[in-house]
Amino acid sequence: DWTMAAFRAEAIERIRAQVGSGRVICGLSGGVDSSVAAVLIHEAIGDQLTCIYVDHGVMRGGESEQVVATFRDRFNIKLVHRDASELFLGQLAGVTDPELKRKTIGRLFIEVFEEEQAKCGGADFLAQGTLYPDVIESVSATGGPSVTIKSHHNVGGLPENMRMQLVEPLRDLFKDEVRALGRELGMPEEIVGRHPFPGPGLAIRIPGEVTRERVQILQKADAIYLEEIRSAGLYDAIWQAFAVLLPVKTVGVMGDGRTYESVCALRAVTSTDGMTADVYPFTMEFLTRVAGRIVNEVRGINRVTYDITSKPPGTIEWE
Ligand code: XMP
Repeated sequence: DWTMAAFRAEAIERIRAQVGSGRVICGLSGGVDSSVAAVLIHEAIGDQLTCIYVDHGVMRGGESEQVVATFRDRFNIKLVHRDASELFLGQLAGVTDPELKRKTIGRLFIEVFEEEQAKCGGADFLAQGTLYPDVIESVSATGGPSVTIKSHHNVGGLPENMRMQLVEPLRDLFKDEVRALGRELGMPEEIVGRHPFPGPGLAIRIPGEVTRERVQILQKADAIYLEEIRSAGLYDAIWQAFAVLLPVKTVGVMGDGRTYESVCALRAVTSTDGMTADVYPFTMEFLTRVAGRIVNEVRGINRVTYDITSKPPGTIEWE
């Protein structure tokens, strides 16, 4: 794709001109935007870039290992991996309000990030995977009153008071262009084609209290669901698909015994920008196969439902 090849070359020149011999720090979330920004900046300035990946304990299963394998081992990017799951899960104990979950995670994320970047000896620039729609949204948000439905803590978003200049090489791009750029940079399809994942992670997919045990149950169910979606060849046709672990127990029967365990809801939507969304029309055969596997393989779940609400009036996430 010559457009992306040209964009890549120009972006690299712009990054070099802006940064000079300065040091850049970039928060990696495992998502497409920060990942593509990091690889692009690394191509421009090499080891002047350090990435920081904070594991908040509410990532999908295996995600942290994948981030380390990709950025450190494959792209040779300097990467700090901080497992802060004890801290985050400790502070999330007893928190059930969705906005308070977001605020708690957002606050801790900044604390841990600042700690790690100080340990690296600081930096002159902060890199962010801000896209064109994010720019538009924040401009219109300051341009007049608006209704905030969710505070949208985004792991890439850090406060102004970090007193670093921003490097935002994706500011002119839309999501599909960022994906094309990632492919141009030789990034693996699992990263480039990946569904969006919210900054507060699985914490907002566990209505009620988030505990390590519930996170593990949800990770298992989510992994089975996504594995089935991938092997049915449906992953790329879906904007986002994920499981939600409900704070509701129901009675079931397993062998000769009665069970009393949690309900898992499955969600899958199509969308172009996340602003509106339609329910993905799986076949009953597919849904019953996934439900059967989850109930049989995941201890703690004995019933599965499929969310058939579009956005609006529903939102994509449950919290
Ligand atoms: P909703 O649930 O509002 O989600 O329909 C729209 C899109 O935004 C994502 N989302 C978030 N992303 N921090 C994020 O970085 C958040 O707090 C957050 N809440 C929702 C959601 O996954 C969907 O892609």
